[in-house]
Amino acid sequence: MIIPGSGSQALAAALAEATGEALATPTYDRFPDGEQLAAVPDFAGDSATIVCSTTGDEAWVELLQLQDAVREAGATEVTTVIPYMGYARQDEAFKQGQPVSARAMARAVSTGTDRVVLVNPHEPDVADCYDVPVDHVDAAGVLAAPLPALDDPLFLAPDESAVGLAETVSEAYGAGDTDYFEKHRDRDTGAVEIEPSDATVQGRDVVVVDDIIATGSTMSEAIGVLEARDADRLFAACVHPMLVRNAATKLRNAGVERIVGTDTVERECSCVSVADAVADAL
Ligand code: R5P
Repeated sequence: MIIPGSGSQALAAALAEATGEALATPTYDRFPDGEQLAAVPDFAGDSATIVCSTTGDEAWVELLQLQDAVREAGATEVTTVIPYMGYARQDEAFKQGQPVSARAMARAVSTGTDRVVLVNPHEPDVADCYDVPVDHVDAAGVLAAPLPALDDPLFLAPDESAVGLAETVSEAYGAGDTDYFEKHRDRDTGAVEIEPSDATVQGRDVVVVDDIIATGSTMSEAIGVLEARDADRLFAACVHPMLVRNAATKLRNAGVERIVGTDTVERECSCVSVADAVADAL
């Protein structure tokens, strides 16, 4: 049975369809003091696949509760699909006294599951933080499908760590060059500075590809450079469209024609699904 977290209901339904498994209808309640109570009253069987993107602290609590609920209801085999794993960027203590948040969350999740499936985690090494087997799904290729016909396309990563994603999207698109910029982020202020490459962008359609768009600072800085260099049409593509605060508006004002994202985070721009890729991993 597929068990959706409240923020992953569309993806869980698509996954149920792709796998032929039944879709549970959990309830997501709250006590008067604010404590959460996620339950799976219709859970039946012995195998549970929980699908829950951990986009915020409440989603982590919900995930732990869903794991416990299905065990309590008799599940003997629990798989936890985390389409978007929050806290994965704090995968080391960057300053004295800081936690390795990714490890803390992974350890907690490991206590309630036999296996974890992650979709394009920020760093693949985050798998080492779990105490159970972890499978990675690379779903970036689906981002090519919604792109229109592009003129002399360039698939650009805003930093070196996203080059693999840009290459995957370019390959799935079936044409285009890939390149990357260098990025520097101030750990105190979060401000992003982009150091452009010498890629020729004038008159070309450019798709900037990243794993996450959160505040939109990385993307909008990259787009600003491309605008200044007379690129033609500009697209922003990402696996995880967190798009917090005014990110979507920042990107539109920076000159992005369209934001393309997957349903690991369910937003307006989530026009392609990772369900088939996750179904393959399952
Ligand atoms: C960081 O290295 C990630 O790959 C993304 O570039 C980053 O999380 C995007 O965040 P923001 O949209 O806040 O710049």
